[in-house]
Formats: sequence, structure tokens, C-alpha cells
Amino acid sequence: MADLRLPKYSRVRPGRTHKAKVGTETREFQIYRWDPDKNDNPRLDIYHVDLKNCGPMVLDAITTIKNETDPTLTFRRSCREGICGSCAMNIDGVNTLACTKPIMEVKGKVKIFPLPHMPVIKDLVPDLTHFFRQLASIEPWLKRNESTGLTENTQTVDERNRLDGLYECILCACCSTSCPSYWWNSERYLGPAALLQANRWIVDSRDMATEERLEQLDDTFKLYRCHTIMNCTNACPKGLNPAKAIGQIKKMIARSQ
Ligand code: SF4
Ligand code: SF4
Ligand code: FES
Repeated sequence: MADLRLPKYSRVRPGRTHKAKVGTETREFQIYRWDPDKNDNPRLDIYHVDLKNCGPMVLDAITTIKNETDPTLTFRRSCREGICGSCAMNIDGVNTLACTKPIMEVKGKVKIFPLPHMPVIKDLVPDLTHFFRQLASIEPWLKRNESTGLTENTQTVDERNRLDGLYECILCACCSTSCPSYWWNSERYLGPAALLQANRWIVDSRDMATEERLEQLDDTFKLYRCHTIMNCTNACPKGLNPAKAIGQIKKMIARSQ
């Protein structure tokens, strides 16, 4: 008989409340916490942050919490300007970058969870090992024939323009982790981020492996699990359109047959 119980440690329980030390303009942040070293369920901790004592973005608030209230709070961040992709998390129900998400855009309590449907390493840090393994599987580098030697690989302006809307991807995983098809089939479906990257190399005029790349993607699961639901495009904090990139790959495969 099927086991319909939730997996161990999947139920989020109410956690601790940390009041702000000073200030009158406070906002409540509810943050997912889970510590792999404690045999316990995840919890939702509450932090009151004085907005006058903190920068305007959600990343500023969680950095303030870490620095001044709770040093155990764990999250990733690096560039703090939407370039590295490491601070991706689910804020107010939407996958986005904490460093470019203004606190003021969230009405009421600010609820913060790790990217959905990914294993959690600790608190807001998802395990992206599989995600990056899938990226590696599309071989995200320029492939040239050895016979082309060491000459420059030039492009026309039009050829270069074909990379617009693709090269800007920062691999934050906001799109893939908002895609229902990826949630249910992530073992075999590559997901919107890896497929947008695949398209980036397919349309690059300097790359000489187009046919081979299309053949590798022509697979019921790797590519065709995309059902054009468009969550990915709505979620991308860089304003890219992974659903369109996937559609372009499908079209190129259809034309090549
Ligand atoms: S368009 Fe495709 S990749 Fe994007 S969310 Fe929908 S199923 Fe996922
Ligand atoms: S397409 Fe957008 S959401 Fe997806 S990984 Fe790239 S930057 Fe992030
Ligand atoms: S810290 Fe680099 S994208 Fe947010």
C-alpha cells in the first residue's frame, strides 16, 4: 500500500521570535530555518527589523539580522547587485534575488523560504549540485573543429545580437525551481535554466556543434517535459524568457528532421 505520510522533517513548525533592539519603524520577517545537525523539523523564525537601521533590499534585512540578531542564520550572497545569482530565494511566494528585491515591494510580513523543491543544505541554502550537473550536461562552452586552428572567431553584429536575451542568464535557478514540470521530473527534465543555456550555445554563430547539440536534446524527458506553462519566464529576475528559448530549440529540432 502507498505510504501517504509526509517525509520526515517536512512539516514547518513555528519557531522563535526575535524582537528588534531599537527603532520604531519595524517590519516582521518570517524566515525558514533548518539545521541538518539537529534531528528536528524546520521552523519559521520571526525577526523584527528596524528599517531605519537597514538598507532597502531584502538581502540588507537578512544581513542585518545575521550581523545584529542571529549569527546562525545561513544564506548565500556575493555581489549584492543581481549579477552572481547566489542570493536566489523564495520571497513573498515568488522566486527572486534577495539583493534586488525591495522590502517595500512586499506588503505586510516578509516571508522567506529557500528555493522550492530543492534539497536544503541549511536554512535558505539549497543544494544546487544536480542543477549544475544538468548545466554541465549541455556542455556550455564553445565547440570548434580542430582544423579551424588558432584564428580569431569573429561575429557580425547580427550574429552577436542573437545572443541577447540568453547570455545575461546568471544561473540563479529561480526559473527551474518555479517550473512544475521540473518539480516532478527534475531527474530527467533539464529545466528552463539549462535549456536556455543550451540555446545560447546552439545559436552562437561560432559554435560548430549545433547538430550534435540538437540531437542530444531531442528527448522526451530532457526537452519535451516543457509544457509552456510560462512560470519560468514570469520568475526570471533578469527579465529573460526561458520558455521562448525552449520553444526555439523545439522549432530547430523540428526543422532539422
Ligand atoms: S514554460 Fe516550460 S520550462 Fe517554463 S515553467 Fe513552463 S514547463 Fe517549465
Ligand atoms: S533564465 Fe533567469 S531565472 Fe533562469 S537561471 Fe537564468 S537568470 Fe535565473
Ligand atoms: S548577491 Fe549576487 S545576485 Fe544577489
